[in-house]
Amino acid sequence: MANYDLLLLPGDGIGPEVMTEVEGVVDWLNGQTQNSFNVETELVGGSAIEAHGVPVTNETVEKADKADAIVLGAVGGPKWDGVDFEIRPEAGLLRLRKDLDLFANLRPAICYPALAEASSLKPEVVEGLDIMIVRELTGGTYFGEPKEITDLPDGQKRGVDTTVYTTSEIERIVRVACDLARKRSKKVHSAEKRNVMSTGVLWHEVADRIFREEYSDLESHHILADNCAMQLIRWPKQFDVLVTDNLFGDMLSDEAAMMTGSLGMLPSASLGAEQAGKCKSLYEPVHGSAPDIAGTNQANPIATIASFGMSLRYSFDMSEAADIVDKAIANVLDAGLRTADIMQDGMKQVSTSEMGAAIKAEMSKLSA
Ligand code: IPM
Ligand code: MG
Repeated sequence: MANYDLLLLPGDGIGPEVMTEVEGVVDWLNGQTQNSFNVETELVGGSAIEAHGVPVTNETVEKADKADAIVLGAVGGPKWDGVDFEIRPEAGLLRLRKDLDLFANLRPAICYPALAEASSLKPEVVEGLDIMIVRELTGGTYFGEPKEITDLPDGQKRGVDTTVYTTSEIERIVRVACDLARKRSKKVHSAEKRNVMSTGVLWHEVADRIFREEYSDLESHHILADNCAMQLIRWPKQFDVLVTDNLFGDMLSDEAAMMTGSLGMLPSASLGAEQAGKCKSLYEPVHGSAPDIAGTNQANPIATIASFGMSLRYSFDMSEAADIVDKAIANVLDAGLRTADIMQDGMKQVSTSEMGAAIKAEMSKLSA
């Protein structure tokens, strides 16, 4: 029996609504399992800017650092378009990733059979899809310096972003991907732009050495990131684990998300290095704050509930409970319940809270 500290950061837009459904699942687990979760909630993103003038406070970062896991909803919205770039809502999330050194972002794209028709791709292309995108999360173009807009003498401006990777940053993310591949179908692809970028040349060289020296039991491939984007649309089932840098991973994971039917379906886990058998972790849906539907009880809570489900697996060693969460989601979809984003003919459209309630009810059935 263990007692865990869980920090919830609902954030902006639909974040608070979908997080309410996670709280319901946490309450359910507190009543059902030996372990108990101690839940605290803090602000991040635009809501933190409103309250504190910054997108995340030092106190919240400290709490996040101490928590056993963090679940984040979403940040951002047009309301904060005018704020300084340094304190925009997204900067809160990026600071948490960087300060906690959450370098490994796992983004599984699973197409539930019930949703194969909801994808914009043909059902036979996506049905049964189960890929894992491993995105490097604390380096590359997101954090490289210089990163600035300067004034030129001729009155123009000049914007610069810098893409930087070191050997060890590439090694550690490639190892995470390979370790996952060993537990899955033993196949890994590494995507970069070695034909254009120096970081791509280094990425390829390092990934290739790790593949050969440490993971010769795996089937490993290198692929150019643009070709990878095309192959994902053409025949996604050729991939299993796909490791790539921060910026390519951001784009390829949005692409993979649509194959699962909706961006509202995709969970993610951001993990740090293992220390004394534990690692820092933040779980969040891949989708954004969807300000257009915020507050209307229409958002799909599945990605956020599934993100919490990933925390049960990766942070709390509660794989049985994680299986129940995953199975409950699949069953509810099989039963024909759909939020607006995944609505199809003949199915029953439900609200955010109805979807959450249905998942909890299914969890009770599964554990009875
Ligand atoms: C994501 C998001 C973030 C990113 C934004 C909100 C900063 O798009 O997690 O994929 O670009 O990493
Ligand atoms: Mg993104």
